[in-house]
Amino acid sequence: MKSAEIREAFLRFFEEKGHTRVASSSLIPANDPTLLFTNAGMNQFKDCFLGLEKRAYTRATTSQKCVRAGGKHNDLENVGYTARHHTFFEMLGNFSFGDYFKRDAIRYAWEFLTSPQWLNLPQEKLWVTVYASDDEAYAIWTEEVGVPAERMVRIGDNKGAPYASDNFWAMGDTGPCGPCTEIFFDHGEHIWGGPPGSPEEDGDRYIEIWNNVFMQFNRTADGVLHPLPAPSVDTGMGLERVSAVLQHVHSNYEIDLFQNLLAASAAAIGCANDGAPSLKVVADHIRSCGFLIADGVTPSNEGRGYVLRRIVRRACRHGNKLGAKGSFFHKIVAALAAEMGEAYPELREQRAHIERVLKTEEEQFAKTLEQGLKILEQDLAELQGRVIPGDVVFKLYDTYGFPVDLTGDIARERELSIDEDGFEREMQAQRERARSASAFGLDYNSLVKVDTDTLFTGYEDTFGQGQIVALFKAGAAVEQLQEGEEGVVVLDRTPFYAESGGQVGDCGYLSDASGVRFDVRDTTKAGGAYLHHGVVGAGSLRVGQAVEAQVDASVRGATALNHSATHLLHAALRQVLGEHVQQKGSLVDSQRLRFDFSHFEAIKPEQLKALEALVNAEIRKNSAVQTEQTDIETAKQKGAMALFGEKYGDSVRVLSMGDFSVELCGGIHAKRTGDIGLMKIISEGGVAAGVRRIEAVTGVGALDYLSGAEEQLKEAAALVKGSRDNLLDKLAGVLERNRQLEKELEQLKAKAASAAGDDLAGAAIEVAGVKVLASRLDGLDGKALLALADQLKNKLGSAVILLGGEFDGKVVLVAGVTQDLTAKLKAGELMRQAAAVVGGKGGGRPDMAQGGGVDAGKLGEALALVEPFVAAAF
Ligand code: SER
Repeated sequence: MKSAEIREAFLRFFEEKGHTRVASSSLIPANDPTLLFTNAGMNQFKDCFLGLEKRAYTRATTSQKCVRAGGKHNDLENVGYTARHHTFFEMLGNFSFGDYFKRDAIRYAWEFLTSPQWLNLPQEKLWVTVYASDDEAYAIWTEEVGVPAERMVRIGDNKGAPYASDNFWAMGDTGPCGPCTEIFFDHGEHIWGGPPGSPEEDGDRYIEIWNNVFMQFNRTADGVLHPLPAPSVDTGMGLERVSAVLQHVHSNYEIDLFQNLLAASAAAIGCANDGAPSLKVVADHIRSCGFLIADGVTPSNEGRGYVLRRIVRRACRHGNKLGAKGSFFHKIVAALAAEMGEAYPELREQRAHIERVLKTEEEQFAKTLEQGLKILEQDLAELQGRVIPGDVVFKLYDTYGFPVDLTGDIARERELSIDEDGFEREMQAQRERARSASAFGLDYNSLVKVDTDTLFTGYEDTFGQGQIVALFKAGAAVEQLQEGEEGVVVLDRTPFYAESGGQVGDCGYLSDASGVRFDVRDTTKAGGAYLHHGVVGAGSLRVGQAVEAQVDASVRGATALNHSATHLLHAALRQVLGEHVQQKGSLVDSQRLRFDFSHFEAIKPEQLKALEALVNAEIRKNSAVQTEQTDIETAKQKGAMALFGEKYGDSVRVLSMGDFSVELCGGIHAKRTGDIGLMKIISEGGVAAGVRRIEAVTGVGALDYLSGAEEQLKEAAALVKGSRDNLLDKLAGVLERNRQLEKELEQLKAKAASAAGDDLAGAAIEVAGVKVLASRLDGLDGKALLALADQLKNKLGSAVILLGGEFDGKVVLVAGVTQDLTAKLKAGELMRQAAAVVGGKGGGRPDMAQGGGVDAGKLGEALALVEPFVAAAF
C-alpha cells in the first residue's frame, strides 16, 4: 500500500466512524506562544480538550504536518542514524472531545490495524503498552480485544519523576496530558532490539506505530494535574512508520515517499544513492525546511527562524560530507514538490520561494564557513598545547555558525583535540539564557483563559451593551477591579474587535450610568473569549455588572480602510509581480498598513507605480465590500486566498471586493472600496531572504502624508525664493552657483596661502645652523598646506618646515625638507612623530610628508617637536 493510500484509508475509516475530516493546521501553531512548532495532531485541538473551544463536532480525524526539532519533543540529532526519526513527519490522528473514551479508542485502533478490510496486519506482530496503573486499559486489551498477556507491557514512571513516563503523554510542561497506550510492531528477529520496557528497547526491532492518549488532565506549572471537563482521546500514528510496515521494509527511509527524495538528494549532491546516513539527513531535512518555509518561517537568529537555520546548516554539512560542491540543497525542492505537492499544494505554489530562501541561506552559510575558518586559523596560530579550548569552539559555533563537528574534523587533521566538556558548559549556559529569553518556555496556563464565548457584535456596531463575565488582574481571576488598577475585562458580548489576522485590537472605553469608566487600550482573544485590556479610570468594576461598550470609532474607521487597502494591495501584487506572491505577514492599524510577502528582488519604481495605480483604480470603482459565511472548501473553490499560518474554524468568512479580491478574513473593513479614498505607498524594502515589505497609508492618512510632502515642497521653494513651479530650475541654479563659488574659493585660498607664504618665510628661525619653520594655519586642507610648504621650500632655499592646522574638525599636518638636508633629516620621520602627538598617523617621502590626527589641542606640542628634532640631526 502506498503512503498516500494509507493516509486516505485512515481518514476514511474514521469518517465512517462518525469523525469529521479536518485539514492539517499550519506548522506555526495559531495563537500559541508556548509552542515552537506544531508537533502533534492534537495541537490545533488543545483548547477543545481544555473545554475552552467548542466545535461543531466532537470527533475529528486529521493527517497533520509535524516538526519535531527544538522544544519538548526534539528528534533532530537522531535523524539519519535511526530507522524511524524525522524532523518532519505526518501524524494520522483520531480525536474525541468528551465523546468516546478508552474502550472505543482501543477498539477503533485495533480494527483499523488488523481488520482484513483495512490494514490487515498480523495480530501476533503487535505489542501493546499501557501506563502501569491503568488497569482499565489493560483489561480492555486483554479481555475484550484478546491481546495475550505476553505481548502486553505495563510501563510506569520510567523517566525519574511522577507522570514522567513513556506512557504518560504531555504536549509540553503544562497543558493537556494523560496516560496512553502504545501499539508496537515487531519487525522480526533479524533486527536488533527488544520489546518496550526491556533493556534493548531503543533498538529498531520493535517500533511504536500508534499512540492512543487518554486526555484526562490539565497540568499547571506547579505540577498539579487538574481533571479536564470531560475525558477525551488524542491519538497519533506516524504515517512513515506504518508505511514501512505495510511496504515490508524496515526503515522509514525505504518507503515510497522517500525514494525520489533520496535519489534527488544524491543527484543534487553528486554522490551515490547508497543509503549513507548523511543522505538520509538531507532527504529528511528538505521536508522540514520546505514545509516550514511554505508556512512562513524564514531563517533568522532567533526563535523559529533559528531552528530552521540550524536544520538548513545541518543539511549543508551532511551534503558537504558527501562531497557536495557549492549549494545543492535548494535543488531538491522540485522533487519534494513533486512527491508531496498533491497532498500539500502549498509546496507547489511556493516552490520558487522555498528554493530562493534556501539558496540564499546556503550561500550565506558558505560565507560563514569561510569566515569561521579564518578565525579558527588565527586562534590555532596562538594556541598553546594540543587542545582547542571550549570557549573558542563555542565562539566559532555561536558567533560564526561554525558547526562543532567541523571544528572537530579540522582539529583531528592537525592532531589536536577539542575541549568537549568546556564546550558543553558554554552550551548549557547558552541554553539557559535562551530559555529565560524565550516565550516558548511560557506556562500555557499563565495565559488568561476563560471558559466563555464572547458574542462579537462589532461588524455592525461600534457601541453595545454587555455584561462582565470575568475580570483578571496580573493574569489571575478576580471578583473586582478598583479605580486605578490595570486588568482584563471579559464581556458576554462586545463590539470590540480582538487582534487577529494582522488587524490590531480596538480601543475605546466601557462605562455605566453611575460614572464607572474602564479605558480599553487593546483587545485580544483567548479561545472564544474577548479580553479588553486597560485600566479603571473611575469607579470600580465587578463580575456580573452591566456596562456600555464604546469603541473609538474614528480609530476603528481608519484601521478598516487600511485593512481593505491591504486586500487590494495583496491582489494587485499578484497581478503586477506574479502568482508567487504570498502573504508573509501583515499589520494593520489606524496609522498605516504594513504588508510582508514573498518576492525575490526589490520592486522596481515602475512596478510600485503600477501597484498604486491598480489599487487606486479599484478604489475608484467603489465596489461594495461583501462578506459571506461558508465552509472552507466552498471558499477555496471561489478562489479565496487563505493563509497557511491561520487557524480557520468550521465556518469561514469570505470577503470580496468586486471580482478583484477574494480572501478569507475575519477583520473589519470599509463598506465600499471608494471609502478608502486613496492609497499611497510610502516605503518598500527587504525584511528577510525572499521577503519584501510595503508600507502604505490610506484615507485621511494618505491626505496628511501628501499634505506633509506638499508642505515640504513649499518650504523648500521658499528657501530658494521660488515657487513649486520653478523649484527644480531654482535648485539647479543654486547648485550651479555653489559649484562656481567653490571654484572661486579654491583660487582665493591659493592666493591667500601664497601671500601667507611670504609672511611666513620671514618667521623662520635658525637651529644648529639650519632654517626651521613651524607654523599653525587653521582652515586649510591638506592640498593647500602642501602647496604652501612647497612654496616655502622655494623661498627659503634650504630649510625644515612643519605646517599644521585644523580643518573640518580634524588636524592636518605637512612636513617639508629641502633636498640638500634630506640626507640628515627626513620629512617622513618628522611626520611620523608629529602625527603621533595629535593622535594620528603620517608619513611620506624624505622631502615631503603628510599626516593627520584628531587632537587639535596637542597641535602646539606637535609643532614644537621640530626644533629638538633638527637640533638632534645636525
Ligand atoms: N499526542 C500524542 C503523540 O504525539 C498522540 O497523538 O504521541
